[in-house]
Amino acid sequence: TNFSVPTSYASDSNAGAFPLHRPRRLRRTPALRRLAAETTVRPSNLVQPLFVREGLTEPRPIASMPGVLQHTRDTLRKAAAEAVAAGVGGLMIFGIPLVKDGTGSGASDPEGILQVALRDVVAEVGEQTVVIGDINLDEYTTHGHVGVLGPDGDVDNDASLQRFAEVAVAQADAGAHVVAPSGMMDGQVRHIRAALDRAGHQQVAILGYSAKYASSFYGPFRDAVESSLTGDRKSYQQNPANLRESLREVALDLTEGADMVMVKPASYYLDIVRLLADAVDVPVSAYQVSGEYAMVEAAAKQGWIDRDSAVVESLTCLYRAGATVLITYWATEFAAKLPR
Ligand code: PBG
Repeated sequence: TNFSVPTSYASDSNAGAFPLHRPRRLRRTPALRRLAAETTVRPSNLVQPLFVREGLTEPRPIASMPGVLQHTRDTLRKAAAEAVAAGVGGLMIFGIPLVKDGTGSGASDPEGILQVALRDVVAEVGEQTVVIGDINLDEYTTHGHVGVLGPDGDVDNDASLQRFAEVAVAQADAGAHVVAPSGMMDGQVRHIRAALDRAGHQQVAILGYSAKYASSFYGPFRDAVESSLTGDRKSYQQNPANLRESLREVALDLTEGADMVMVKPASYYLDIVRLLADAVDVPVSAYQVSGEYAMVEAAAKQGWIDRDSAVVESLTCLYRAGATVLITYWATEFAAKLPR
């Protein structure tokens, strides 16, 4: 979309007198502001990420994400029901296993924590909301990388694809409505699509983490999932310096069969969100990540920022930039706090 300034403003013959044009007229009252609002986020646009840890008997707070919990199987079900009651559009579930290994075998084990949790949640909420699984080995590997390592210590792309396909089928078998490959391995969407189709899961959709950047803002998430990563993910996640590369990643994912695409993180990447929203004809999702959450919570705790209005503003801006699926740790709470 190309906007230009209406020429009528350029030749103001009224110069020097009272302003003819007063944009403030439409901002004067809450009713006028509501009428003039160009965008409104609805609860159904929000996706709530949830963490479930194997073997927990009590939910456990996550220090770097105040207000977010590692759930037990039981409290996860309750959190899912609460999100549904709030009208939240989707749930994205992350599992934290008791035991990790080199190939992340827990990620595809039918009795692995995420598969068990997906069955629990789908039994609880059915199709009242969209249940999404994250396809990645990082929570399940001793080295903390997204895939399996090659002899050179870097992630082996094609060996990881095989594992992602197994994870995707395990999650779909457990009832996931959507699977979201977040590993940034080349060709992952095609591989997962083929495996799902072979297993009879033609109707399970793929949300590609297409434009996923190597970001410092994932720090608190790595606490939340007790990641064992040392080092970084720069050999597979995108360089924050790049914009056009996102077009390539998204084009590849769509060619390979992705049903939706994602930009991650969200707030510092609104140019990417807008670029993709204009370029593609599938829903664009934005993941407001753990560091974005933690920064607002920390400043609010100090009394340096008004928490509720900052959160609503951040979600509104993501939507305005072109994202219609907003993945946010504030989803359930803020479903009721969005402007109507
Ligand atoms: C991969 C995954 C990560 C996040 C979501 N999925 C971690 C990573 O790529 O390092 C980060 C989400 C957040 O920071 O909130 N399992």
